[in-house]
Amino acid sequence: MPAIAVIGGQWGDEGKGKVVDLVAEQADAVVRFSGGDNAGHTVINRFGKFALHLIPSGIFSPNATSIIGNGVVINPEVLFQEIDMLMARGIDASPSRLFISDRAHVIMPYHVILDGLEENLRGGRAIGTTMKGIGPVFADKIARQGIRIGDLMDRHNFMEQLRPMLDQKNLFLTRVFGSQPLSLTKIYKDYIEYGKRLKPYVRDTTVILEQALKEGKVVMLEGAQGTMLDPDFGTYPYATSSSPTAGGACVGSGISPRAITCILGVFKAYCTRVGGGPFPTELDNEIGDHIRERAHEYGTTTGRPRRCGWFDAVAARYSNRINGFTGMAITRFDILDTLETIKVCTSYKIGNKTITDFPSSIATLEKCKPVYEELPGWCTTTCDIRSFKDLPAVARKYVKRLEELVGCHANLICVGPERNQTIVKKAVI
Ligand code: GDP
Ligand code: IMO
Ligand code: MG
Repeated sequence: MPAIAVIGGQWGDEGKGKVVDLVAEQADAVVRFSGGDNAGHTVINRFGKFALHLIPSGIFSPNATSIIGNGVVINPEVLFQEIDMLMARGIDASPSRLFISDRAHVIMPYHVILDGLEENLRGGRAIGTTMKGIGPVFADKIARQGIRIGDLMDRHNFMEQLRPMLDQKNLFLTRVFGSQPLSLTKIYKDYIEYGKRLKPYVRDTTVILEQALKEGKVVMLEGAQGTMLDPDFGTYPYATSSSPTAGGACVGSGISPRAITCILGVFKAYCTRVGGGPFPTELDNEIGDHIRERAHEYGTTTGRPRRCGWFDAVAARYSNRINGFTGMAITRFDILDTLETIKVCTSYKIGNKTITDFPSSIATLEKCKPVYEELPGWCTTTCDIRSFKDLPAVARKYVKRLEELVGCHANLICVGPERNQTIVKKAVI
């Protein structure tokens, strides 16, 4: 069985952590391939409740190897905190089963500082980033001046790279932003220490993955963020800086597109988004507040309240076009249990013009008014249901309508945050 990608279909926080934790029970390797600690993946299973930022959500599966791929950007301090937290709670995150790509880029202190300063400078047009240094580290990667995990293993070369880099960053910090310069000695010393601790974990992870695939093992590719935050296909510039899509899964892990046979799109049964940017189905009213409070829609990484809205089938269909989903996981289904009427956006309107394809320009998107279809709610608790046929008929109808609108069938319907609160409509593996 080759590779399975689990991809956020909306604006992130769809419940990818929960879905990966569940499917990884049958996996041999789970790879994070994009983003960094801007991600926050919640997992609730028999070991407890966890918020993971860098380590794959498959770490709880005793038979699975966990890999942080080349496409991830790593803040070493955050990684060590996560490793220590897992080890303290009895989860093995040792170098015997957690591997880190030598090609992954490193988040440096100036990236985090610059993220904040650049956001301030944007004023009313701030992106609402997670302030983890994501934009600045990917900018350095693309500008071919980043520092990679492998670079930390070589003291001499690291100094040769760091010195001119820090000269440049200190110029920006002091002359552009009027901020304090950073100390070369301190950063050098800290990162050489990080390098020593990282060393046993570091590998050319493409070799491990090639071997696993050759042996017919199940490799899972765990997406971070969501397709609508993709820097090409998302609501640019209100986007993140690496690709959360199925295409990004290949680039960020070193796996061939030919190896991926299953692309599972994760969608909430409604929509949320954190940070700035257009969100056509946003509910800036009591229904939005009701969903936020009932679902506790507050960011796993930043604690910020998430903006809530109805399911946007225009965006979801577009997301399916970009990713080619072989199936969906619909999460947070139980959150709709209390609503008498549920709306789904099937097209947009600008004046008299009907729009069915997601616009590339945010100026256009901001003018779009959602056109809704109303469906009856089921007004009964679904969190203990484990079989599709036991869902109320109107709830099954809602699933069917989402399948029609998005253009692919549902594999999983999640009716609660815990691993077992899941209806398997069609097995993923
Ligand atoms: P991720 O970033 O995609 O992994 O998602 P997050 O962990 O940031 O946010 C998803 C939230 O939804 C978490 O609090 C999960 O525990 C929770 N969750 C996932 N699936 C379900 C579900 O079916 N029902 C409910 N009530 N909560 C869910
Ligand atoms: P997971 O993996 C939701 C959003 C931020 C901001 C934009 C850019 O948990 O689904 P960045 O810090 O990446 O430069 O911020 O992207 N964002 C996320 N929103 N879930 C995430 O990750 C996100 N990662 C980034 O809120 O709007
Ligand atoms: Mg999240």
